[in-house]
Amino acid sequence: MDGINLDQIIHEVVTKYLKKPMIVAGNWKMNMTVREGWEFLEKLGSVDTNVLIFPPYTTLALLAPEMRKRGILYGPQNFHYEDSGAYTGEISIPMIRELGCSCLLAGHSERRSYYNETDEALSRKVAKGIRSGFRVMLCIGESLEERRNGQWQKKLTEQIALDLRELERKELDSVLIAYEPIWAIGTGVSASLEEIQETHGFLKMAMREMFGCELPLLYGGSVNEKNAQEIGGCPYVDGFLIGGASLKPEKFRKIIEISKSV
Ligand code: 13P
Repeated sequence: MDGINLDQIIHEVVTKYLKKPMIVAGNWKMNMTVREGWEFLEKLGSVDTNVLIFPPYTTLALLAPEMRKRGILYGPQNFHYEDSGAYTGEISIPMIRELGCSCLLAGHSERRSYYNETDEALSRKVAKGIRSGFRVMLCIGESLEERRNGQWQKKLTEQIALDLRELERKELDSVLIAYEPIWAIGTGVSASLEEIQETHGFLKMAMREMFGCELPLLYGGSVNEKNAQEIGGCPYVDGFLIGGASLKPEKFRKIIEISKSV
């Protein structure tokens, strides 16, 4: 079978047809006051699948019981690796634990680029979050320049290797990866289906090589109610991390419903 990788084909068929339920995650970024968040939840109603929201801290603290009531999982958009101390403007794991969070977001490209979040700091954060009993969703992504220069594979595998370097094999079970090409975030133009499939396929293979296992892999970058069906249908997409469309309850609800059928 020259030129055909049978293992790869079997793997693709199995991942396509035996897909686990998708994860639909909303990153509210610096949006949603408590009042707006409350109205959002009223309109969204309850959920019966894997739905996760990362609100800003104040909204997270006050709306945690409401989210719990509706079956929504939730967590912070960032956290520190120390439990307490002189770190003005930061938030710690014990503070997050009080709110009943289940998953922590780490390494979003906006934090990496605007707040200089380094892979060194991220490796400590990820280890701290997981050893404190949380799941961690690690965001990775390449710039447009890196995509065009053919540097994206190197960039993405480096981020995974560096940010997860402190973890033992068993601890990897608590990690989810969100692939968010920086050039597709907030632009209204997602990566093409070919790019998503190629990148996710590459990342799953890289994880198997690096760790001997595959971690759940979400796609983020201009996901909306119109493209969710197609993107979710790609074989290596285990869920979505959504910015803009997660702020509108009707759109977010549509994506949740779509996620159940792909
Ligand atoms: P958009 O869905 O607005 O492109 O944002 C994606 C994102 O950054 C989610 O973390």
